[in-house]
Amino acid sequence: MRRHDTTLVVGGTGKTGRRVVERLQLLGLPYRVGSRSAQPRFDWEDRKTWLPALEGVGQAYVTYYPDLCLPGALDKVRSFFDLAGEAGVKKLVFLSGRGETEAEQAEQALKKSGADWTILRCSFFSQNFSESFFLAPILAGEVALPVAPVGEPFVDAEDIADVAVAALTEPSHSAKLYELTGPRALMFADAIEEIARATGRNIQFVAITPEEYRAAMLRAQVPPEVIDLVLYLFSTVLDGRNTPVADGVQRALGRAPRDFADYVQRTAATDVWGT
Ligand SMILES: NC(=O)c1ccc[n+]([C@@H]2O[C@H](COP(=O)([O-])OP(=O)(O)OC[C@H]3O[C@@H](n4cnc5c(N)ncnc54)[C@H](OP(=O)(O)O)[C@@H]3O)[C@@H](O)[C@H]2O)c1
Repeated sequence: MRRHDTTLVVGGTGKTGRRVVERLQLLGLPYRVGSRSAQPRFDWEDRKTWLPALEGVGQAYVTYYPDLCLPGALDKVRSFFDLAGEAGVKKLVFLSGRGETEAEQAEQALKKSGADWTILRCSFFSQNFSESFFLAPILAGEVALPVAPVGEPFVDAEDIADVAVAALTEPSHSAKLYELTGPRALMFADAIEEIARATGRNIQFVAITPEEYRAAMLRAQVPPEVIDLVLYLFSTVLDGRNTPVADGVQRALGRAPRDFADYVQRTAATDVWGT
């Protein structure tokens, strides 16, 4: 273990952040959650909340919300990285996304912060099916998405958290960029079929056009900016550019990444998808 001062976990109640917090707790290391519900409050939209959250912090795991591709995100993460460097933070571990120009610009800003860094450039998370936008359609029995029949090597948030904590606590991950994916690419239809099989439920996957998707989401009263974000993701990062698997988990941890089937079995056992 390298450092024993406080670790700030920005997004520490989210899909990867809360798993990072669980691991720091198990290691007995001091941490602080950075989020709107934490004390002190940290809000990406309110810069005066940033410095109090950085007080006494030696290293930080940084996740931006809602998405690095949105207007203004680059400016905010760049300012935050600079402030962290000035506040004496020695190490920043940054959650980035594969295949997004904006995410790569944020990575460049990270490298200029003056702090040591590790980048976790991730594929689409498996946990989006159980802790995010795909859960409600799965429970309703039909997942209708504007997605081409391309493969995506979904990455398990447990693996992301394992790599994040290794990077926060071991010097060997200094100045490393890890592309984190699962071990195989699946199409969305295949992923839904695996979930249906594991739960014994009838869950249909339906490919629809972006226009049909927008209309259905508006009927379901999903905010237009959320619809725009999902459509952007489906037309860019989920266009097949990210289909190849990467070796980041193996390089960082010396072991293979968890398979999607492992995630499905574990998650089905929690009953979050019903039976
Ligand atoms: N999901 C994916 O498949 C995926 C793949 C690759 C990269 N990424 C990147 O990962 C990042 C996080 O995405 P995610 O979907 O995984 O989200 P997430 O971490 O599950 O997001 C929720 C977290 O963000 C916090 N939060 C929400 N609004 C906030 C604000 N205004 N200020 C501070 N904290 C706020 C929430 O806590 P409070 O509600 O308490 O504020 C919670 O801790 C994004 O930058 C995305 O580009 C995601």
